[in-house]
Amino acid sequence: MALKISVIGTGYLGATHAACMSSLGLEVVGVDLDSAKIERLKGGRVPFYEPGLEELLQEQLATGRLTFSDNFDAISDADVHFICVGTPQVKDGLAADMSYVDGAIEAIAMRIKPGSLVVGKSTVPVGSAARLRDRLRTLNPEVDLAWNPEFLREGFAVHDTLHPNRLVVGVASNEAEDILRAVYAKNIAEEVPWVVADLPTSELVKVAANSFLATKISFINAMAEICEAAGGDVTVLAKAIGYDPRIGSRFLQAGIGFGGGCLPKDIRAFMARSQELGADQALEFLREIDSINMRARSRVIDLVRRELGENLAGKKVAVLGAAFKPDSDDVRDSPALDIAVQIHAAGASVEIFDPKAMENAKLRFPTLAFAQSIDECLAQADIVLHLTEWQVFREINPTVAATLVNNPIIIDGRNALDRELWQMAGWKVRALGRAS
Ligand code: UGA
Repeated sequence: MALKISVIGTGYLGATHAACMSSLGLEVVGVDLDSAKIERLKGGRVPFYEPGLEELLQEQLATGRLTFSDNFDAISDADVHFICVGTPQVKDGLAADMSYVDGAIEAIAMRIKPGSLVVGKSTVPVGSAARLRDRLRTLNPEVDLAWNPEFLREGFAVHDTLHPNRLVVGVASNEAEDILRAVYAKNIAEEVPWVVADLPTSELVKVAANSFLATKISFINAMAEICEAAGGDVTVLAKAIGYDPRIGSRFLQAGIGFGGGCLPKDIRAFMARSQELGADQALEFLREIDSINMRARSRVIDLVRRELGENLAGKKVAVLGAAFKPDSDDVRDSPALDIAVQIHAAGASVEIFDPKAMENAKLRFPTLAFAQSIDECLAQADIVLHLTEWQVFREINPTVAATLVNNPIIIDGRNALDRELWQMAGWKVRALGRAS
């Protein structure tokens, strides 16, 4: 008999997981307390921008295998329950806010049938899974809990869920592993590496992976600072070290650094947890990773001041990009928006354009100005900042763009533009980690 699964929380992770599990042939019900979100999903609309997801959602709704509900009773006949709620940074510290995960466990514990398996996917502080398993089994002794961290990237969420580069399952019993093998039978048949771990190791795999990625980015941004001081070029340096397969060339793109809803809060929550464990010294370096990352943002503002003078009042700054990365409308902890806000606060008149993230950016910072088009954004600018490397920005014709601005100066905050092309069109191009 086909397994039925439930997905608790239909945000980024949950909506993607629900649609993808349905496309693997499982019967899926997605539940969320947010009725408006559920209505949209039922209607085949995804409440955020993720390439390919809306099409997949509509296709899967049409099969009848995928349903959504704001009534948690809808999960009661499912065999496996995936917890996909968020764990944002707490407002008054570095730790992760576990209230949504805790709330989800309380909400489902008495509704699920004996023999069913609860599977956490949310990114949590190590030790949470064991604690939640105890709590769940106190409320409902005949169920089990496993942990199965998610490694999807925004912008590639569907691909990463359907074709993960590994599946990691943290289990406390053989039965739990057997159930997860049945859920992921198709991936296993495609020889996706299957890593079985205990509960704490599975939780740690996720934060260790994100910490490593953050470290790689901050490493290259530290090299960018050195290149600037020594007159080197960080893009050539990154290319050269990346040929060493032990280092690898990916995630060595120097620029304004990492943002989003994951890397920044995950390294902070990891530091907070290490302190609770009495092992804070081991992660002391992450504090430096975080500060190199935040410094990249202020270095762009220093560059703006170097070009326009200390007093930015009355200067028009065109900002290309608001999302934390391309192919996403997510503006959580976006380096681009952070820089825009700081320049605005310094008195400049900032105008922003982003192909997908304008609505979210406006909601977060209603006092900033947003342009309707790239041309409108560039018009009369004293300086242009390229802060999110969307393809449409790489396609800008620099010769035409030069006729729109006041001053043809651009700061490439992502080292993603064709510098020679822009220079040939008369632009002064500045970038982090490259001599001008
Ligand atoms: C990240 C991880 O890459 C995923 O594996 C993980 O599942 C996810 O977090 C999560 O924890 O849910 P994501 O936040 O979608 O995924 O974004 P990334 O592609 O990792 O990029 C993060 C940030 O680093 C972006 O702001 C990006 O612009 C920046 N970045 C990335 C750089 O500045 N340089 C690089 O070379 C690469």
